[in-house]
Amino acid sequence: MKHLLKLSDLSAEEILGILNLADQLKYEKKNGVDHPLLKGKTLGMIFQKSSTRTRVSFEAGMYQLGGNALFLSSRDLQIGRGEPPQDTARVLSRYLDGIMIRTFAQSEVESLAEYGTIPVINGLTDYAHPCQVLADLMTIREYKNSLKGLKLCFIGDGNNMANSLIVGCVKLGMSFAIACPENYRPDAQLMKWAAENGDFLCTTDISLAARDADAVYTDVWASMGQEDETALRIKAFKNYQVNAEVMRAAKPDAMVLHCLPAHRGEEISGETFEAHADEIFDEAENRLHAQKAVLVKLLRNRQTNE
Ligand code: CP
Ligand code: NVA
Repeated sequence: MKHLLKLSDLSAEEILGILNLADQLKYEKKNGVDHPLLKGKTLGMIFQKSSTRTRVSFEAGMYQLGGNALFLSSRDLQIGRGEPPQDTARVLSRYLDGIMIRTFAQSEVESLAEYGTIPVINGLTDYAHPCQVLADLMTIREYKNSLKGLKLCFIGDGNNMANSLIVGCVKLGMSFAIACPENYRPDAQLMKWAAENGDFLCTTDISLAARDADAVYTDVWASMGQEDETALRIKAFKNYQVNAEVMRAAKPDAMVLHCLPAHRGEEISGETFEAHADEIFDEAENRLHAQKAVLVKLLRNRQTNE
């Protein structure tokens, strides 16, 4: 594994390897053990969109591993004034040991990886959010002890989260059902792949999607960059809310996951959010541990750029 651009690039074994290391790092951290596995390494973090969890967990994660992280806002970088990602990648590769980028087009992340010589991590694009899904799978496994054979139901927009969850679930032998309006389905190629390789359902019927689910997942109706469509989307998604009624269709011990930030009263009712807050905030915490595992896997054995 040279980069983390999207989960479809990883094998099931590589995903499980990250989850296992994440569990170990979490356990050690809770027991007061910190390993400076990335001493002397520097991660550049390019943000073209806002972030709380991704920024803070990557920055704290690098610090805990003995390295450093640089927050690089696209407002300040020349990339924000049109310098091509190909050139940015070649320059940053001379200074840094890894790049994490949050941006719009997946092609920009792929291009950084193609032209740079250091590992690139996708911190969210319009297409995918692999780091979040690693934390999600880690959290489900913590609560349910295993992943294979479990059912995850996603209610809402077929967005970057849905795309990455489909891949993560199918690769690890989970069944995946999404309920979404017809015009807001996940990526067509990914749906085809999931139908051919796993147990996959895309429907407009929420109770069918949620039936016997072990985990129910939702995300905002309007993602970053879609703010202009908010009113339209509120109309389109008004029936696609995770609430007590949806949870009655799922298994009695079903967990609720949300990548956050959440809009209570839209994609999730305030009552259901609070009833499952422990799971949701464990999921947020696990971003730190899962990303530390990714950073160790990608950056540890490379020669340091100093
Ligand atoms: N879930 C997530 O990626 O959160 P941020 O947008 O705050 O990074
Ligand atoms: N789908 C959301 C996820 C935020 C973590 C977005 O892209 O804004």
